[in-house]
Amino acid sequence: MSILMKKGNDLTVEVDDFTVCYNDAGDGVIPVIFIHGFPFDKSMWNQQMEALQKGNRVIAYDIRGFGKSTSGLKKATIDLFAEDLVGFMDVLHVDKAIVCGLSMGGYIVLNAAYRFANRFTALILSDTQCIADTAEGILKRKESIKLIQDGGMEQFAEAFISKIFTPVTIAEQKNVVQQVRVVMLQTAAVVIVSTLNALAEREEVCSGLNKLTLPVLILCGKEDQITPLAQSELMNKQFVNSNLQIIENAGHMSNLEQHALFNGILSSFIKDFNTMKS
Ligand code: MLT
Repeated sequence: MSILMKKGNDLTVEVDDFTVCYNDAGDGVIPVIFIHGFPFDKSMWNQQMEALQKGNRVIAYDIRGFGKSTSGLKKATIDLFAEDLVGFMDVLHVDKAIVCGLSMGGYIVLNAAYRFANRFTALILSDTQCIADTAEGILKRKESIKLIQDGGMEQFAEAFISKIFTPVTIAEQKNVVQQVRVVMLQTAAVVIVSTLNALAEREEVCSGLNKLTLPVLILCGKEDQITPLAQSELMNKQFVNSNLQIIENAGHMSNLEQHALFNGILSSFIKDFNTMKS
């Protein structure tokens, strides 16, 4: 049984062993579910939620441990986060959805699409990739874990910020950068550490992309340093039914850095599904 509670715009439901905090707005035939990246929360989708709720049902939730969702007791893995997504859909009685994930959110979308393909109408993959971490990437994750465990959360956050935004965004969109900084610093160190391990342990999913026949929209900031454009190009070649949109003047956080452009692309992609039955 699920208990639904409302606090301001935030709703909560129990899924498996944790409490999911989410926002749910607008009406539409096929809901669009937004999944945030690491180490952010659902607020990174505020501008998409605002713009797209006219004519669509839009849902954004906090992954376990992030934002206002509780952590539960299970070990963080991308597999678990994908199961949480489907468990969340079950509790909301959403049979099918369009899912939109940025970066780690995209890893979750891809994992869920393989294992629960019949639950999705279309996929939106923003600034993400299908490869596993390289040996060098895993080493960097371990260094970050050590830094955070030694009390260097602020140093970790500043180094991360310098990589996820373009220099122009950092200079000209100070509010956006500050909002992301605040969210990062509010995230419990233990959650950041367990999720860094989950990211390091995730498996590659590139080899099966050609078996996913769903419509896929891929977006990528041209200056993304974390999941570079070449990774989106690689996925776009492998999928049978995908379209890649490159966002100029944006880095890894393309939905925040160029929100109007991003929203326009999303809106024209999802409008085709609004006349379909789920
Ligand atoms: C993210 O934005 O979700 C992360 O940077 C992904 C990653 O580190 O692999």
